[in-house]
Amino acid sequence: MTMKVLVTGANGQLGRALQDAVPDAMQVRAVSRNELDVTDRAAVHAMVETWRPDVIINAAAYTAVDKAESEPELAEQGNAIAPRNLALAANEIQARVIHISTDFVFDGRSSSPYQPDSKTAPLGVYGRTKLAGEKAVQEVAGQRALIVRTAWVYDAVGKNFLRTMLRLMQERGAVRVVADQIGTPTSAASLASVLWQFVLHSELSGVFHWTDAGVASWYDFAVAIAEEAVAAGVLKSMPAITPIATQDYPTPAQRPAYSVLDKSATYAALGVRPVHWREQLRAVMAKVVL
Ligand SMILES: NC(=O)c1ccc[n+]([C@@H]2O[C@H](COP(=O)([O-])OP(=O)(O)OC[C@H]3O[C@@H](n4cnc5c(N)ncnc54)[C@H](OP(=O)(O)O)[C@@H]3O)[C@@H](O)[C@H]2O)c1
Repeated sequence: MTMKVLVTGANGQLGRALQDAVPDAMQVRAVSRNELDVTDRAAVHAMVETWRPDVIINAAAYTAVDKAESEPELAEQGNAIAPRNLALAANEIQARVIHISTDFVFDGRSSSPYQPDSKTAPLGVYGRTKLAGEKAVQEVAGQRALIVRTAWVYDAVGKNFLRTMLRLMQERGAVRVVADQIGTPTSAASLASVLWQFVLHSELSGVFHWTDAGVASWYDFAVAIAEEAVAAGVLKSMPAITPIATQDYPTPAQRPAYSVLDKSATYAALGVRPVHWREQLRAVMAKVVL
């Protein structure tokens, strides 16, 4: 039987990657903010009641980490109220909800990978509201709720670190990048593919982690981006890349210093093979047009 899947946040980085990778035997309706504002409880309810999906993937979120510090109400609406709206509507028709969350639910003081049940302690508004969203979805949808935390997501298009770096490298020939924040770059395509696997495994619920394999600082990631861009002919020459400390690049929101996620539960549940971020980066770079 064809499974019906509603995807919110269709114009975002992940929303687009999900649409690029729809498995066979799925009927997908991907809605952008214009078609469905997920903070509008009545609109969410009406769409879910009418279209009656089997699964909702919530790829919509308030993702402006620094801006969130000065507009916490909007962040709360997008990251906590909206997922709750989706879970409430899903409950009415017994649909599953797959909700995407973030490494920012952790404080980054660990030095070993975070497990799905590790202690959460967000450092800022974005992380706090995303954690509230996780809890709301689980509280409302229970066994039909599945949370996938991810980190450092990028793609060949969209607003992301890779695009920002390539632009600065091309314009200035030199960048300064923080070297004391450690995580794992994650290609939007790899995340999308795993999310579709979670859709197919309807027996699964709870919190899971997904990033690509390996560990890097933002500085390491920037160096790799430059090297792969030169190799692919996206950049003409290697820019100068200087490692700096977080304290030399002040931002309104504090970020976790270490946010590597342990993915073993996901590997075991889905039988997926982890691919190193550098290998994924090469595949993404092949699609970049500057
Ligand atoms: N990017 C990362 O590095 C990263 C890391 C960890 C976790 N995540 C999580 O991954 C998920 C996907 O993020 P992404 O990278 O794809 O972010 P994105 O590119 O910013 O996409 C988010 C999308 O949500 C839409 N949206 C925002 N508020 C909405 C609303 N009220 N109703 C409907 N749509 C709304 C946005 O529309 P507008 O463009 O109109 O605002 C945008 O299209 C999010 O849950 C995010 O928290 C991302």
